[in-house]
Amino acid sequence: MPDIGRETRFNLNKTSIILPAMTKKTGTPPASGIRIDVTSKPAAPVKADLLALPMGSKELKKNGPAALQPLGIDPGVLNDFKGGAGEIAMAYRTGKGASRVALLGIGEGRTNDDFRKAAEALSRKAGELHCGVVALDCAGIGEWAKHAKRTPEYLAGVIVEGVVSGSYRFDRLKSGKLDKEKDKQGDGKPKTVEALVLAGCGSHAADVETGADAGRVIGTCQNVARDLVNLPGNHLSAEELAEAAREAGKRGAFDVTVFDRKKITELGMGGLLSVNKGSEQPPTFTIMDYRPEGKARKTVVLVGKGITFDSGGISIKPSAGMDEMKSDMAGAACVIGVLEAVSTLGLPLRVVGLIPATDNMPAGSAMKPGDVITTMSGISVEVGNTDAEGRLILADALTYAKREFDPDVIIDLATLTGACIVALGMKVAGLFSNDDGLAEEISRSGQATGEKVWRLPLWDEYAEQIKSDVADVSNTGSKGAGTITAAKFLENFVEGHKHWAHIDIAGPAFAAKGGGLSGGTGFGVRLLADLLRSWA
Ligand code: BES
Ligand code: MN
Ligand code: ZN
Repeated sequence: MPDIGRETRFNLNKTSIILPAMTKKTGTPPASGIRIDVTSKPAAPVKADLLALPMGSKELKKNGPAALQPLGIDPGVLNDFKGGAGEIAMAYRTGKGASRVALLGIGEGRTNDDFRKAAEALSRKAGELHCGVVALDCAGIGEWAKHAKRTPEYLAGVIVEGVVSGSYRFDRLKSGKLDKEKDKQGDGKPKTVEALVLAGCGSHAADVETGADAGRVIGTCQNVARDLVNLPGNHLSAEELAEAAREAGKRGAFDVTVFDRKKITELGMGGLLSVNKGSEQPPTFTIMDYRPEGKARKTVVLVGKGITFDSGGISIKPSAGMDEMKSDMAGAACVIGVLEAVSTLGLPLRVVGLIPATDNMPAGSAMKPGDVITTMSGISVEVGNTDAEGRLILADALTYAKREFDPDVIIDLATLTGACIVALGMKVAGLFSNDDGLAEEISRSGQATGEKVWRLPLWDEYAEQIKSDVADVSNTGSKGAGTITAAKFLENFVEGHKHWAHIDIAGPAFAAKGGGLSGGTGFGVRLLADLLRSWA
């Protein structure tokens, strides 16, 4: 199992377990290990399978030919290359260094997104061409950084995150048995980037190295989250999700405690227990606790929705697209990824991750529409629709967060509502907060990391919609603003906490089949890692 992060600063390995140790392996992935070398020496002669030359769309005409000439590459290749972010043109040369050269467009090079897109595209291209070792010419990094108003360190992080992310594959449920004889033998060459050489860094080498290290950790942890999202319901039960958190805890060195049904019952987590009623498998409630060496600057609790499969329950969903509801634990996956990232980076913050987990299934024993349940907070809830299950399990987790930790900040992430997709589409998450400053900071991290969020209101007008005749509140709103009424519901359970944010990731957590990158995206790992680093 390759380690992530150059050094593991802490090795507590104090995983406390209430749930009996699992015998079955979940097959949770080790963090992928991509080797990164940084050198101040020029890129062109570096021994590699592919040399990438980043080029901006603006300077292309002026500087392009001069950059290619010393490499012996015909400048004619520039005729078909505009330098847009992520655009690639291949050229070939003889002599020292890589024979394959990729001209890599970085667009105007103004935003992090330009560099991230370029790095992801490069990584995918290298994979297609079976190039395991890629040398990236970073001679321009000082200039790029100035242009993008970032430091070379920061930009190096963005680039490496992009390369790690672009090399992601989810193929561990493929046996290869049906592959054609030719593919089966393979060419023995790597299918993803195994080593990245950031060359030509000159005086920036030390900064680039620091940034690259962080980028590798965050990119890798994002891939851990993607793997969990991609695992289908029959490969990832609530217990297996808890086990994945435990494994991340061993790699990242944070404490993990898993509450089983008995403990969950003792705590009175009526939301989680009610959603679990139709299930053949027990619920879990996982607590990940990262404490830094020395004093923590803040205590932050992150809560992630962990519905391992959402059928809708008795209010069953239509069958079209129901398979995608294996991704209904994307909030939990993100929280696991973030915990592993912050602990590996050794941030001076206490970060606690909470994951209420179960599937949501119909059965004779299942929770029924009209049922009134009592959550851990004591607040009673009328279940207007069993498909509005996420808010029921989150309610208990928010109560637990407030009561047990009284943290400086609470942030929950959840694939909570289809209505959020109606409002904001597949690329952008909904943001709700009772703290304008916090909302502003999260929005800023969203812009910086390309994991964009858009704030929606928590006005009291919306509380009207979730009033119940028979209970304290209903889990279903009357017509309209479904993403807001869901957030309004959650607000009841933070018990007056003044610094809470809810991020509805129903759209961006999972990309449907067909459009290039598909499956789990790991949305939120970069966003929250950026936010937490800004507090460190
Ligand atoms: N997990 C779904 C929300 C969802 C939908 C996520 C599509 C990702 C893609 C959630 O549990 C749900 O079913 N919400 C209902 C709430 C409604 C019944 C009040 C919805 O959005 O329709
Ligand atoms: Mn649902
Ligand atoms: Zn759901």
